[in-house]
Amino acid sequence: MTPAFATTTFDAYTVRADFPALHQAVHGSQPLVYLDNGATAQKPMAVIERLNAYYSQENSNIHRGVHYLSQQATEAYEAARTAVQHYIGAAHPHEVIITRGTTEAINLVAHSYARQHLRAGDEVMISAMEHHSNIVPWQLACEATGATLRVIPVTDAGELDYEAFRQGLSEKTKLVALVHISNALGTINPVEQVIADAHALGVPVLLDGAQALPHQRIDVQALDVDFYCFSSHKMFGPTGVGILYGKETLLEKMPPYQGGGDMIDVVTFEKTTYADLPHKFEAGTPHIAGGIGLGAAVAYLNDLDFDGLARHEHAVLTYATEQLTALGGIRFVGTAARKASVLSFLLDGAHPYDTGAILDRMGVAVRTGHHCTQPLMDRFGIPGTVRASFAMYNTREDVDRLVAGVAKAKAMLL
Ligand code: ALA
Repeated sequence: MTPAFATTTFDAYTVRADFPALHQAVHGSQPLVYLDNGATAQKPMAVIERLNAYYSQENSNIHRGVHYLSQQATEAYEAARTAVQHYIGAAHPHEVIITRGTTEAINLVAHSYARQHLRAGDEVMISAMEHHSNIVPWQLACEATGATLRVIPVTDAGELDYEAFRQGLSEKTKLVALVHISNALGTINPVEQVIADAHALGVPVLLDGAQALPHQRIDVQALDVDFYCFSSHKMFGPTGVGILYGKETLLEKMPPYQGGGDMIDVVTFEKTTYADLPHKFEAGTPHIAGGIGLGAAVAYLNDLDFDGLARHEHAVLTYATEQLTALGGIRFVGTAARKASVLSFLLDGAHPYDTGAILDRMGVAVRTGHHCTQPLMDRFGIPGTVRASFAMYNTREDVDRLVAGVAKAKAMLL
């Protein structure tokens, strides 16, 4: 049965009003239905105005200037770091490393931590549902060290094969790197259990949380996760900025990832000493506006009722699943018991690109293809899917437009 849409305080229609990009027509006169939130989410006015204010009034470099503007910008940038710290429940602001995104956060750990700890015969464990950004950095680290990449299989429903995970864990395992919520399937992985089982053998866990933050609050201390990576742009902030959370005890011992300005203590040609956390991992002028904009996104999210948001998103996903099922001729890819706001599907007999192109002409934005998860698509024996990825501002009316578009594609293509 479709759950009720009414929520206590969360109201998707009120939230929608804050996002100007949602209120436009595309291809002339088609009101936009934006269902490509897994790729990137739209931005609320609060974030857009904060970027505008930084560039109009505060633009200057941080951590360097004695002058007024530089101090203002430095304060705003560091306040954003503290906002993220509180938002994810980290113990210290210096456990929050500001990166260019999830990809750079994972690469940082794969270069700095993994190369320091991996030896021939060791294993890094990932799953078959990883994004390329949580596969390739580990392949590079394994090639450089002689370690082996071990892949946990996924079931036909798109869930982690938990027994295989448990059996695969051994004294050889040096790190588990797992996606929290799958971008291609929507599967929510049992990360609490994964962390408990890995820690029982002393194995640290990195989670790719890029798709989790837009849908749920996380608490890194309650999770007891060792590294947690996510991107600003998927959680309604600017592109080009992301976060690596790491436990202080681990980050302290890790060597720098990149060399340059801002990450040093003293430089001579003979020897360089490095800055303390978090700056040791933040070489060069960062995306200052992006960091400050992420702070504004966090402030926006802080004001939302996440229980209501989760109920709303669940209702939208359930309604969309029911409606597409009723249409017939749909193959869903990813039917896990615990799913977040992703519907990956194929119209039987049609190429995903053709379905996506017809939807686009009707104003419905979805992503088609392998979603940067080629090995996962191989697992299901398909080239790709059509993916509708919902966010908190999507509504029942958006789902109706999606279903009407798929019905039209079905009539045209089959
Ligand atoms: N990783 C992003 C997606 O799933 C780009 O679309």
